[in-house]
Amino acid sequence: MARTSFPISVDAAQIARAAELIRRGELVAFPTETVYGLGANALDANAVARIFEAKGRPSTSPLIVHVYGIECVGVVARSWPDRAAMLARRFWPGSLTLVLPKQAAIPPLVTAGLDTVGVRIPNHPIALALLREAGVPIAAPSANRFTQLSPTRAEHVRESFGDRVSLILDGGPANVGLESTVLSLAGPAPVLLRPGMVTRQQIEALIGPVSLAEDPLRGPHSSPGQHRKHYSPRTPLVFVENGELPGGRGAYLYWHTFLNASRVYRMPSDAESSAARLYDILHELDNQSWDWIAVELPPRGPGWEAIHDRLNRAAAR
Ligand code: TXA
Ligand code: MG
Repeated sequence: MARTSFPISVDAAQIARAAELIRRGELVAFPTETVYGLGANALDANAVARIFEAKGRPSTSPLIVHVYGIECVGVVARSWPDRAAMLARRFWPGSLTLVLPKQAAIPPLVTAGLDTVGVRIPNHPIALALLREAGVPIAAPSANRFTQLSPTRAEHVRESFGDRVSLILDGGPANVGLESTVLSLAGPAPVLLRPGMVTRQQIEALIGPVSLAEDPLRGPHSSPGQHRKHYSPRTPLVFVENGELPGGRGAYLYWHTFLNASRVYRMPSDAESSAARLYDILHELDNQSWDWIAVELPPRGPGWEAIHDRLNRAAAR
């Protein structure tokens, strides 16, 4: 039988150690296909409290709970509608979080007091091995300080937290690179709470119409934690209009139109590759002390919604 192998340097002994730390109520950062997560035992309110403390995150912002198989969802969510089953069959393991009515075993702190819970099966061998070995669902937000850029590499986690995290499992660069799509199935109709690389069009092809959280006709929707300023580098990020760069020295990201900034970076032409590069390049530029990071408006189209969403938030001051 082939031995399970993990990317980079994570071996079975490290997984066992990480699982033990999770069971003891400590924090472990681990790779997923979207971004790195800062994990704690989702059934242990004290462990979960440490996540909020380490991130500097307000307790009004609910966490996503990760499980390794559909058979574990029942521990977290108390109902499993047909639409959830259809989506899970197609997109799990993967970057789609489903918001469902929560089980009583999940402490209120995890869900910011809501009666619903976000749950997903991540598509990453290290995350899945950790979940299996820990034997408990793992609550994990992105492993960054509140409002900062999400981490797509173990080094990004180390820069934010240093030794405030008991262990960081290094799975190399994340290959999706943006946080999961968040879809609520808790109400009468499906609502997209956060766009991601599983697109609204892909979801609608399976389950029919999905409304948007910011749909003005539906009023302000229950998407706690979707703060306008979020996912931001420390360096001011500005969109470029009419080909004009700000004064001073900065870096410029573009898809089509070259402009002569101190540092210029051309993004890949397709949405998947752009998503996979975006946070990585922003982290890199953010460490180079530029006066600004200027970004051309990305292309439009189904796969690009999540990129627009994150850049709009990164530009919000
Ligand atoms: O890709 C991801 O989702 C990553 C990896 C680690 O899985 N996690 C992540 O977690 O991005 P976080 O905490 O940074 O973002 C969680 C998002 C927030 O926008 C939050 O509002 C939403 O999920 N969310 C979680 N539970 C919810 C609930 N019960 N109702 C509404 N929104 C919820
Ligand atoms: Mg986050």
